Amino acid sequence: MTDNNESRGVAPKLGDMSSEEFRRIGYELIDWISNYFEHIEEMPVLSQIEPGDLKAQLPQSPPEKGEPMQAIIADLDRFVVPALTHWSHPSFFAYFATSTSAPGIFGELLTAAFDAKAMLWRTSPASTELEDVALDWLRQMMGLDAGLSGIIYDTASVSSMHAIAAAREGVEQRIREEGMSGRPDLPLLRVYASDQAHSSIDKGIITLGLGQRALRKIPSDSEFRMDASALAAAVDEDKRKGILPFCVVATVGTTSTSSIDPVRQIVDVCEKHALWLHVDAAYAGSAAVVPELRHILDGCERADSVAVNPHKWLFTPFDLSVLYCRHMDLLRRAFSLVPEYLRTPEQEKVRSGSDYGVQLGRRFRALKLWMIIRYFGHEGLAARIREHCRLAQLFASWVDESASWELMAPVPLGLVCFRACPKLDSQDQKLRQKRLDVLNEEIMHGVNATGRALLSHTRLNDKLTLRLSIGNIRTTEKHVQQVWDLLNHQLETIRAHQ
Ligand SMILES: Cc1ncc(COP(=O)(O)O)c(C=O)c1O
Repeated sequence: MTDNNESRGVAPKLGDMSSEEFRRIGYELIDWISNYFEHIEEMPVLSQIEPGDLKAQLPQSPPEKGEPMQAIIADLDRFVVPALTHWSHPSFFAYFATSTSAPGIFGELLTAAFDAKAMLWRTSPASTELEDVALDWLRQMMGLDAGLSGIIYDTASVSSMHAIAAAREGVEQRIREEGMSGRPDLPLLRVYASDQAHSSIDKGIITLGLGQRALRKIPSDSEFRMDASALAAAVDEDKRKGILPFCVVATVGTTSTSSIDPVRQIVDVCEKHALWLHVDAAYAGSAAVVPELRHILDGCERADSVAVNPHKWLFTPFDLSVLYCRHMDLLRRAFSLVPEYLRTPEQEKVRSGSDYGVQLGRRFRALKLWMIIRYFGHEGLAARIREHCRLAQLFASWVDESASWELMAPVPLGLVCFRACPKLDSQDQKLRQKRLDVLNEEIMHGVNATGRALLSHTRLNDKLTLRLSIGNIRTTEKHVQQVWDLLNHQLETIRAHQ
């Protein structure tokens, strides 16, 4: 029996669900989630529905009367779950494999219950202060410099955009007040990133009105790392032309291959020219909680800002990205605006999140991170990431030892870039490359269509390359062995039909 209006057939009852019903359904829902995780491996990783299938099964207009929660939950099984690509599946190896975790789910549940809008310290002191604590713990675990303060945003795209905005504020060209258009006094402002940098850097630059021509892409070396001497030459050349360089974005853990830019050499260039160094460590930053991997952040002790995404590789449910910044004053100068209705007596003494970004209201995201760090502990987090890296090395060793497969990039962390390279009769190199591209694409789609694993791809040196990313909390050696078997089976099946 539900407490909703329809079941009573009386005038609409006001207020929320009764607390008895909330409690009962809450228990059922936790059971539902537990079952989901227990049976996740029976479901195809990649949703098998066709575009539009889900919409076609749902009513086009909203229900006039409220419906019982049981009916809504039943529809989760019928309609929603088949339309999910299961990011929590242990054989999800695509993009950057990520996963939620039980303490993270509890954190999200509580965040929804508290429903705080943490724009000012007083609108949610817990959110503001827990954010400071959790981010300082994370900073310590990653071995980052104590001069960096953290702030939470939703995604790395937004973290990096805010970092570039703070860097631009530091240029002292009154851009906040006067903007950039119609200003003959303003030279072209320049940002540098490698040709492997994530597209979010381009988007940040577009969003900030700098224009795409403001971003100069620096070539990377044979291991996909930014060429620091090419960066130095580009800055010199731009300065000679009257361009105003102000920011360099280095990447620790690039999206295609997880390559690590030489931050130490890059920061030398930045310091020589007083440029802001932002490090996009969205993926790889979490790996620095493993003591023997801390070196991936070498040089970051001299960076101006570092972005890291616990929602990628720290078992934190999407979304939670952290920007560590050495110049919070500049970030604040770029974004702070306190109208009368937001003034508080304590504003001079406290930090209010809305002063440091575009958003006014902010979710209480720190809660889940604080709970995750407490539940797993530094050791527990490090052990899981260490195991992912071991599994990536194991898979890479199988690729390396096989005559039919080849590695396409070094494997510093949990990502393996590889492809099938069986002997083909063609002597013509171009034709051979084309056929290998087609073959690898067929292998990937073949594996993905089985529903038993999900891989993604990239293009390296103009060669279609498969990516296997290990970062899910449920992934074990068994799953890595299974995907290797699936790949070999696909290769043999396709070759047998050629
Ligand atoms: C290196 C890097 N930076 C930034 C991003 C963007 O992350 P987000 O989805 O949090 O904006 C990604 C996404 O994979 C990434 O790999």
